[in-house]
This record gives sequence, C-alpha cells and structure tokens, in this order.
Amino acid sequence: MTKITGNGTNRAGGTPLVDGFGRTVSYLRVSVTDRCDFRCTYCMAENMVFLPKKDILSFEELASIIDVFVKRGVTKLRLTGGEPLVRKDIMDLINHTSGHLKNGELKELTLTSNGSQLHRFADQLVAAGMKRINVSLDTLNAEKFARVTRRGRLEQVLEGIEAADRAGLAIKINMVAMRGFNDEEIVDMLHWTHERGFDLTLIEEMPMGEVSGDRRESFLPLREVRDRLAERFTLEKITLNTGGPARYVRVQETGGRVGFITPMSHNFCESCNRVRLTCTGKLFLCLGQENQLDLRTALRAGGTEGVSRELDRAMILKPKGHDFDPTRIAPASVRHMSVTGG
Ligand code: 5AD
Ligand code: SF4
Repeated sequence: MTKITGNGTNRAGGTPLVDGFGRTVSYLRVSVTDRCDFRCTYCMAENMVFLPKKDILSFEELASIIDVFVKRGVTKLRLTGGEPLVRKDIMDLINHTSGHLKNGELKELTLTSNGSQLHRFADQLVAAGMKRINVSLDTLNAEKFARVTRRGRLEQVLEGIEAADRAGLAIKINMVAMRGFNDEEIVDMLHWTHERGFDLTLIEEMPMGEVSGDRRESFLPLREVRDRLAERFTLEKITLNTGGPARYVRVQETGGRVGFITPMSHNFCESCNRVRLTCTGKLFLCLGQENQLDLRTALRAGGTEGVSRELDRAMILKPKGHDFDPTRIAPASVRHMSVTGG
C-alpha cells in the first residue's frame, strides 16, 4: 500500500493512482528495450523484427516518465525487456532512478534479466542500490538451454548469476514450466536454487505473441507441478508478499522458497497493483488486455504535467482483469512479452 499522508498526497508529493476498482497502483514495470540477445521459443519468433531505434524512448523521456510515476506514488519499479542490460544507456537510467531510492520515494528498484550480461553489470547494480534481481533460467542442461533460447550459452548465464550472487544481490530464478521440455527438471532446479540460497519461481506459459510451436502441447498447469512436488517434499504455505502475483511455499526439506505464477489457471487480478510501460511509451493497464495509452505523445505535447493527466485517465480505464484460455491456438495477445515486459 502506498502510504497516504494527511493531505491526501503520498511521500513524493503527488496524488496517488487509484483505479475504478479501488486498487492503488504502486508498481510499475518498464520494458526499456524490445531487443534481446536470446530468442526464447515461448517468447519470440526465430526472425524477430525489432522496433526502429527512433521509436524507442530516449533516456531523458524514460527518466521523465518514471519521475512522474514516482511522484504519483509508485514505490516499486522493475526494469524488464527484452533484455534490459543490452540497452546501451541502461546504467544511466538505473543511476537516475536510484536517486528516488536514496531519498526514500522508491522502496525497491529491481530488474528481470536473462543473465547474459550480469557478469559485466552485477557490481554496478549493487552500487546503484539494487538489492534483488530475477534471472530467467529454464534448464540447467547446456544443450537444452541452447535449444530454448536459440542462441544463449548456459555457461555465460551461470557466470553472470555467480557474479550477481558474489556482489550480494538476492536472486530469484524464473523458470517457465513446459511439458515435455523441463518438467522432469523441476526437482533438480529446486535443489540447485535452494542450495545457493536463491528463490525459485515457476511460471505458466502465457499466450503472448506469435511463436513457432503449438503452445497447447507444452502448456503445463502448475497445479499439477505443485501436486507432484508435494509427493516428495513438505510444502508449507507462506504469506510472502513480494508485491507480485506469485504464491509462495516453503520447502521444509531445503528451507528454500518456491513461487507459482499461474496467469492461466488462476486469475490474480483482484489484487493487481501494477501497470506496464513499453519502450515506445505505451502504457498497458493489464498484461492480458489491449487497453493502452500513449505517454510519449502526452509527454511531447504536455510535458510531465501531460503525463500526469494521462495517468488520471489510465486509472479510469484500467480493466477489472484478464482471462486467458489455454485451449486456444491463437495468441491471446498479439504483443510479444519482449515488448510489454514479463
Ligand atoms: N509465458 C510465460 N513467461 C514468459 N516469459 C516470456 N515469455 C513468456 C510467456 N509467453 C518470461 C521469461 C522471463 C520473464 C521476463 O517472462 O521467462 O522469466
Ligand atoms: Fe529474451 Fe527473455 Fe524473451 Fe528469452 S524470454 S527471448 S531472454 S526477453
């Protein structure tokens, strides 16, 4: 919850963002680039056409828009992509945003990364005040890793994870559960992460963007995974609130945590506190719905005041929820995850 002070403003001095269903928006995810050095099969097509550079928000534009969100009470910010660390001026943006951390307006600044560049950035991220990161890792088998990412090298990602660990970042591993691909590896991944003190989050595959395979074949409901894990481990429900949609359990045998993100089988929209900004300045109000606003145009026409006014309009438009259908062949959204950010 955003702390509201006596005069109805929040810590950063602006009026809070409350939508038509009474949900306060305190969490912004920003996709800083649609580019990535990987082409994960569930995320991208083999031959992706990326957005022209001129359509991508500049550092100054991104910084201005983020500042408005912070002023309006966003306290948690996650940078995503694509791969955020392939954007050239990413450290400028992180260092700018970290100013809001230092003065207490932001509680948390985090990053979702594929790990490929972490060996270069881990120390700088910590210096900027970052405490936690999420790293996507679907398999610990080098050959399968190359297959699912189409061009990633497992060893490089493991080096990056090690560097992040050494630098003192708390690490959460995101694993997209895919039937017939990594379902037999979930137990190994659980041991591997928990031995290192990392959290593990399992994610159901979402129908975002056109990819090459038939998603219905690989779709694996996490209910099933959880039941199978419960046969081998003692799973204790815990009420860890990371501000996200994951539901967590503690595995008694390892002492570690496993989270489940189930956008397909369980809607978590009632408690949705987030909106998403794309690298072109589109604001998406729900991952599974197409309602969007154009903050770049608002910024160019009306400066930060214009953006702030647009956010008031966004709060009226934010939909109640989404409803993905796992039996559909066509993607529920034409947007790839790399455009909106995971
Ligand atoms: N379904 C579920 N997760 C996805 N990701 C990317 N595309 C999809 C999808 N279609 C995940 C990545 C990463 C995060 C950014 O989003 O694995 O962990
Ligand atoms: Fe890149 Fe992440 Fe998409 Fe894989 S899932 S292609 S690492 S953005």
